[in-house]
Amino acid sequence: MSSAAPSPQSVTARVPAKVNLELVVGPLRPDGFHHLATVFQAVGLHDDVTVQPADDWGITINGPYADLVPDDGTNLALRAARLLAGAAGIEVPVHITIDKDIPVAAGMAGGSADAAGALLACDALWGVWTSRTALEDLAADLGSDVPFALLGGTAMGSGRGDQLAPVLGRGRYFWVLALSDAGLSTPAVYAECDRLRSTLRVPGPTPSASMMTALRSGDAASLGKALSNDLQPAALSLQPRLEEVLGAGMDNGALGGIVSGSGPTVAFLVSDTESSLDLAVALAALGVASSVKRAVGPVRGAHILTAASGPRGSYGSPGLSGPAGLRSS
Ligand code: C5P
Repeated sequence: MSSAAPSPQSVTARVPAKVNLELVVGPLRPDGFHHLATVFQAVGLHDDVTVQPADDWGITINGPYADLVPDDGTNLALRAARLLAGAAGIEVPVHITIDKDIPVAAGMAGGSADAAGALLACDALWGVWTSRTALEDLAADLGSDVPFALLGGTAMGSGRGDQLAPVLGRGRYFWVLALSDAGLSTPAVYAECDRLRSTLRVPGPTPSASMMTALRSGDAASLGKALSNDLQPAALSLQPRLEEVLGAGMDNGALGGIVSGSGPTVAFLVSDTESSLDLAVALAALGVASSVKRAVGPVRGAHILTAASGPRGSYGSPGLSGPAGLRSS
């Protein structure tokens, strides 16, 4: 009788949203991406990505944003699962179910989070044991923010945002997120950023000293002052109403406010839970946002939540081994 642990029937990975505490956009690269220097923070808004063996590849999205997410082969989570399957020589399709709480097209990397969750969950389901480095490489192939969704915490991103270095910082930060109904397309916001800066010489991006100092001190007021985003003028140009949202947050006690990534979510930093409730109530009463959420950061990156019918951490399935290059040493 084999001593191998039974393969799980389904695996669920939990993945966080992100905000960019700082986003310095450098020049356009020949590949169509921009050189970036950014600081990501994972925040406690999550999607749960469940994978189970199926006769064919497919995806179901649950939750309030379900209608906004493609449920065909273009879905980034499905592309992630197929990418790993191809790399690892797996021929068993999966059905993916996403319980979605991260807003869509909001600048919070929800699609990237789902891709990271699918990579991790499929890796566990198939017992591939992909090395961390190989998983990060696959993640970067899928999108600039996908490696960070795997890593979580607080991290510096360089290259096109996919080259990560964890930031050793202190502090637990309280965020209030003002969401907008009208999503913004990331490529459109970068294109608007280029248009607005077309007469300027754009230097190579460098992170600011004030951001690193604030994170090292763990002082929320300093971090609030250090928040910055080079995409913000472009997001405001495409959605001028965001100016009003930013003003409302700052007038109602935020320590700092920033468009999150390419927007249109506006993220406000406050000092504690009570202030976050006060600000959320004020923003809701003013009606400047389509909805308001609260989240704490930093939180951990993608992780396995449950593996039904197999003990956690025991995903061995000797028949489904990937190629040596994909396995941990
Ligand atoms: O990597 P991802 O697919 O998330 O990027 C979406 C779009 O955002 C890219 O197609 C590009 O237009 C823009 N982008 C960029 N520079 C980056 C990251 C993203 O111009 N560093």
